[in-house]
Amino acid sequence: MANSSPIARIQAVVSDDFAAVDQHIHHQLSSDVPLVQTIGNYIVNAGGKRLRPLLVLLSARACGFEGESRIALAAVIEFLHTATLLHDDVVDTSDLRRGRDTANAKWGNAPSVLVGDFLYSRAFEMMVDISDLEVMRILSNATTVIAQGEVLQLMKVRDASTSEATYMDVIRAKTAMLFEASTHAAAVLSGVDKTHQSALQQYGDKLGIAFQLIDDLLDYQGDAQEMGKNVGDDLAEGKPTLPLIYTMREGTPAQSVLVREAIQKGGLDHIDAISEAVRDSGALTYTAKLAQRYADDAIQSLAALPASEARTAMESLAEFSVARSF
Ligand code: IPE
Ligand code: IPE
Ligand code: MG
Ligand code: MG
Repeated sequence: MANSSPIARIQAVVSDDFAAVDQHIHHQLSSDVPLVQTIGNYIVNAGGKRLRPLLVLLSARACGFEGESRIALAAVIEFLHTATLLHDDVVDTSDLRRGRDTANAKWGNAPSVLVGDFLYSRAFEMMVDISDLEVMRILSNATTVIAQGEVLQLMKVRDASTSEATYMDVIRAKTAMLFEASTHAAAVLSGVDKTHQSALQQYGDKLGIAFQLIDDLLDYQGDAQEMGKNVGDDLAEGKPTLPLIYTMREGTPAQSVLVREAIQKGGLDHIDAISEAVRDSGALTYTAKLAQRYADDAIQSLAALPASEARTAMESLAEFSVARSF
């Protein structure tokens, strides 16, 4: 990633902390079972944007907290995230992640699921070391909600009658919950008052929703090389995301039928026609505008915090989450 990229500029605000988190992550990946370490290193070394640990570090900085536990918390969150990715790629039968073959494509489903479980368990061990019961409550609740979100989504696969409200429930649970837990737990660890905790919690929630809206938009108009994952994965699975839901609701009768049948059947047979329909119906514009609204709300939540370099970086992060192409 180029140093001048917006995300690199945001990371630079907490660069020392970031290096410490990286070290902590690698240290905690160690296992006596070689395949655990191999798969763990494989996915972690592929990089990723490391947005969630960044949120922890920026939130702690914005709260003026310098305790060592912020580093462990950031690593815990990235472990939880990585575990969900290993599981998600099995469920979504995806074969490209972070510019590499997914672990399931390379080693199969069983090792991916089991190493995902290892990362979850290791994350909980690391949480115990942090020894803050409130943080533990936030994170254990988040993992429960995420798992439920993934199951709810699974139940809606190939269901063309899925409403926008249900879709919002899914993305709030499967994605925004971890963003929210990152900023909320960092605030709690920092010992700030409830008003500041709640401001950071709100920021994480809104940002997470904006982030997943854009992820779902990029599944139709993104570039696989830039994203490091395939375009069209959602359509292949028959996943009713907002671009499709909107097209069925607001598009022409022909667009509506095309999308409905594609959701019901799954597969990429009509990807070109559907990409055209989600664009021409205004669905991508609608999704992008909604994401911008959530990002604006996220930025608004930060107004409760004192001005700081970290707060400004968090505002930029919200803008990046909407403007991004990867
Ligand atoms: C991917 O998250 C999963 C979603 C919630 C869309 P990221 O886009 O943050 O993945 P990495 O960590 O950068 O690979
Ligand atoms: C996010 O949903 C998944 C998780 C929260 C684990 P997606 O299925 O859209 O994520 P990608 O596109 O595979 O990264
Ligand atoms: Mg997926
Ligand atoms: Mg996606």
